Parts: sequence; structure tokens; C-alpha cells
Amino acid sequence: MHTPVLTIDGPSGAGKGTVSRLVAKKLGWHYLDSGSIYRSLAIALQKAYIDLTNINDIVKIAHDMELEFECGDELIVKLNGENITNQLNLESTGSIASQIATLADVRQVLLQKQQDFKRLPGLVADGRDMGTVVFPEAENKVFLTASSLKRAERRYKQLIGKEIDANLVQIKKDIEARDRRDMEREIAPLAMSNTALYIDSSDMTIDEVVEEVLNLIQ
Ligand code: C5P
Repeated sequence: MHTPVLTIDGPSGAGKGTVSRLVAKKLGWHYLDSGSIYRSLAIALQKAYIDLTNINDIVKIAHDMELEFECGDELIVKLNGENITNQLNLESTGSIASQIATLADVRQVLLQKQQDFKRLPGLVADGRDMGTVVFPEAENKVFLTASSLKRAERRYKQLIGKEIDANLVQIKKDIEARDRRDMEREIAPLAMSNTALYIDSSDMTIDEVVEEVLNLIQ
């Protein structure tokens, strides 16, 4: 039987995670947060004290790590049985994730782990290369973005809301550095599939974005 796939790609902080989760819930489909797979590998490497220049060990750990995802209101991730949800969204985890994401062998090992999420009744997959590399056959594709200032402001508010010290200028710089790394890498760079619907969420609410994405599916 055919399994429908909706891919939502875009830079960090564009709202992909929130929108994808809400759309998946409305449709009753599975949800793949592909960034969390790269982030989990980043944590696995830190736990094993692996140097980021040691590509053989990085690939081995990517291959051997066991991940479990519990997708409720919040995504809970377990790495080899240990709950790592709290470490997943640290800036340092995202930064290591984007460095190892430039390695072709790592992307190859993680490809199958991502494709395994495609199950009936359907899948919403969020990331950078969902519509271009991991699920090129997807019938519905979205490229969701927002200005780097808006994305930095959202991240800043999130951190302040959690009573974590934050600096807007620094956050914007970090976001722009990560954008550059994701867009300029040779393998599976962040790019818009030419069949994707482009949405700039800078001046939109989450509900408006969700509605536009659901219209695409219907
Ligand atoms: O989406 P998130 O910010 O969690 O992703 C962390 C990093 O993982 C990204 O900056 C990107 O470098 C990498 N990534 C990727 N391909 C994906 C998802 C994430 O290269 N499909």
C-alpha cells in the first residue's frame, strides 16, 4: 500500500518542528524530526569522547547507536536506553550536529534510519534534505523559512521563557553561521526542492502556517 509523505525542509528556527508536529497530529501521521537524529549522534559522540576529526569512530557510533522516539506533546528521545531529551536542544548539541552533518559517510549511515520512519498511514518529515535526498518521491513538499532576525528573536524568547540567559545578537550570529554551514556543504545541502511550496513564516502565526500546509495536502 502507498504511504504518503509530506516533507518540511528549511533553516533552523523557521518553526518546522512545531508546524510538523501539529500537522502530523491533525492528519494522524507519524512524525520524523531528522535533526534529532543528528543531534543524538552529537550526544553519543560527546559521551564516548570521540574527536570530531575521527571519522571512522564517528561512523561506527552512528551505525551502532540505538534510538527510540516517543512522540507525544513533546518529543522524547532515548539513546541506547538513556533519556537524552534535555540535552537535545542545547546550542552546543546543534553546533556539533551541523559539523558531523557535513560528513558523507555519516549521512549515508543515517539515511536508512530516517527512511524507516515511512509507515502507514503517512509521514511528516522535517529537516534539511527531506524533500531532496531522503524522500525525493514525496508528493507534498514544503520549504519553510523566516528571516534570521525573526528566527533569532523566537529562539531568544524561548530561552528567556525557560529562564536561560540569552543574547539576541549572539543567537542571530550563531543561526547565520549554522545556515551557512548547512547551505554551503557539498553533501545534501539545505536547498529547496523545485516542487516544494515556499512559505516565509516571518510575519505569520503558527496556526496560519499549519493551515497553509494542510491546504496543500487536501
Ligand atoms: O533541525 P535541527 O536544528 O535539529 O538540526 C541540527 C543540525 O543537523 C542542522 O543544523 C543540520 O546541520 C543537521 N541536519 C541535517 N539534515 C537534516 C536535519 C538536520 O544536516 N535532515
